[in-house]
Amino acid sequence: MNFKTVAILTSGGDAPGMNAAIRAVVRSAASKGIRPLGVRRGFNGLIYRDVFEMNIRSVSDIIERGGTILYTARSPEFLTDKGLKKAVDNCARMNIDAIVVIGGDGSMRGAERLCKSGINCICLPGTIDNDIACSEYSIGFDTAVNNAMLMIDKIRDTAQSHDRCNIIEVMGRRCGNIAVHTGMAVGATAILIPEYKFNFQKDIIDRINFTQSIGKRHFIIIIAEGLRQTQKINEEIVRKIGIESRVTILGHVQRGGSPSAKDRIAASEMGCLAVELLMSGENGKVIVVKNNRIIPIDIYAALKSKKLFDFNFYEKALEISV
Ligand code: F6P
Repeated sequence: MNFKTVAILTSGGDAPGMNAAIRAVVRSAASKGIRPLGVRRGFNGLIYRDVFEMNIRSVSDIIERGGTILYTARSPEFLTDKGLKKAVDNCARMNIDAIVVIGGDGSMRGAERLCKSGINCICLPGTIDNDIACSEYSIGFDTAVNNAMLMIDKIRDTAQSHDRCNIIEVMGRRCGNIAVHTGMAVGATAILIPEYKFNFQKDIIDRINFTQSIGKRHFIIIIAEGLRQTQKINEEIVRKIGIESRVTILGHVQRGGSPSAKDRIAASEMGCLAVELLMSGENGKVIVVKNNRIIPIDIYAALKSKKLFDFNFYEKALEISV
């Protein structure tokens, strides 16, 4: 194929490491003689032609920055037929031969709509939630878990000083991956996630009582935001056990800041692979991590996959947090 121009966009919630991916795509393309274009604010940028020329220097000093220099958005307009048509027509007007889309599940569905309309897209998984069914790993997850871990380490100092319970709500709209991985990293007494229907007595009260009986005097409890029960659980713990308890909602601090080495490296490798795939004429692919290897898979198959939750890992985290 006569492939000359690649556009890059980030869509959905920003994730640390997106900038490293943008940098890799731009530099890899430019060094192969491909013209890179930046699209601002996700699919909205295609609809409103908010597109600009990029080059090797336009991605200098961004590998260490969180967020996304391309800005991001969730675009309801793109979900309409009219919005899609505007985006597709603009791709033709701007001579865009392919688009690299960096984002989560919703962004991949957007890319699928473009593919069905004849625009070649390669997707990179980018969301802190790590909830993309087709990939074991998504850019931003490692940084988010590290951010949450560092915050909870600080909370533990004060929990321990007061013999208190501290409840920490972490992000994860429909997914407990941040909660479980952070829980393993900080040694949380209880971890509550949307994938598991918890029993208040068994999964919280009995666990606190048991660890108390073997000498523990402060308790870290992690709750994924998707459960929407953080305040209620706090009140119930105070009522049933009579210990002091405090709630911290970590919120967007988890999503910001400098990406970890793991996120930078994965994003860089994925960005380079996206350009290699386009150079070799591949069409409609998602780059995923499978069995710890970065590989491309077909976008239509990718979107049919079902995310499996690692209950074994969850149980191990709880077994040793006593
Ligand atoms: O999808 C990533 C995520 O951070 C979720 O964990 C969270 O539920 C959501 O985005 C928050 O979205 P917003 O930044 O729009 O409030």
